[in-house]
Amino acid sequence: MLHSSNLHLETKRLILRPMRESDFDALYLIFTDPNVMAAFDHDPFTHEQMQRWLNRNLDHQKEFGYGLFSVILKETAELIGDCGLEQMDDMNAAELGYDFRSDVWNQGYATEAAIAVRDYAFDILRLPQLISLIRAGNIPSKRVAEKVGMTLAEEFTRYGIRYWKYSMSNKNI
Ligand SMILES: CC(C)(COP(=O)(O)OP(=O)(O)OC[C@H]1O[C@@H](n2cnc3c(N)ncnc32)[C@H](O)[C@@H]1OP(=O)(O)O)[C@@H](O)C(=O)NCCC(=O)NCCS
Repeated sequence: MLHSSNLHLETKRLILRPMRESDFDALYLIFTDPNVMAAFDHDPFTHEQMQRWLNRNLDHQKEFGYGLFSVILKETAELIGDCGLEQMDDMNAAELGYDFRSDVWNQGYATEAAIAVRDYAFDILRLPQLISLIRAGNIPSKRVAEKVGMTLAEEFTRYGIRYWKYSMSNKNI
């Protein structure tokens, strides 16, 4: 197992560091943001749903040595989003995911973070492929996937929900 719990990624405006338990309050602001939750057709998280989500990601980090990063805006030291990797066993690939508080949307932060995670996944972890499962119609997320270099592989239905599957292969392995 890889041990990268201290690994930080840095971009021009952002620090990406492994998610931790004490991020709960800042993450709760994201997952109770109605604009964010509309993308998932989901009500704002309850405290319990937030804890379950956070536990799942912390467990994933322990099991695989990587997972979701908390994204910190250098200028204010605030946690404004999450971005990182989740192993999708039924797809045999890692998913690149991202969620940002809506007051910081459309300034290129998700793209900046996702490009850093793509490079980490391909150059450091040497994963063969990345995918993003995006609810059909989520245009901002699709734009981020495209700007990262992913292309539409297929549209499919999973648990009754229509998804676009974006994917990209690691050209260096
Ligand atoms: C998806 C998400 C992370 C993008 O974050 P962000 O920091 O605003 O992303 P960026 O600024 O890097 O890029 C957003 C792109 O979407 C475009 N966009 C935003 N709203 C749009 C709209 N209504 N129609 C068309 N394009 C739109 C922006 O113009 C930009 O593209 P551009 O660079 O080509 O102009 C953010 O919208 C979010 O958290 N959404 C809710 C959660 C979510 O959907 N997560 C992904 C699940 S798959």
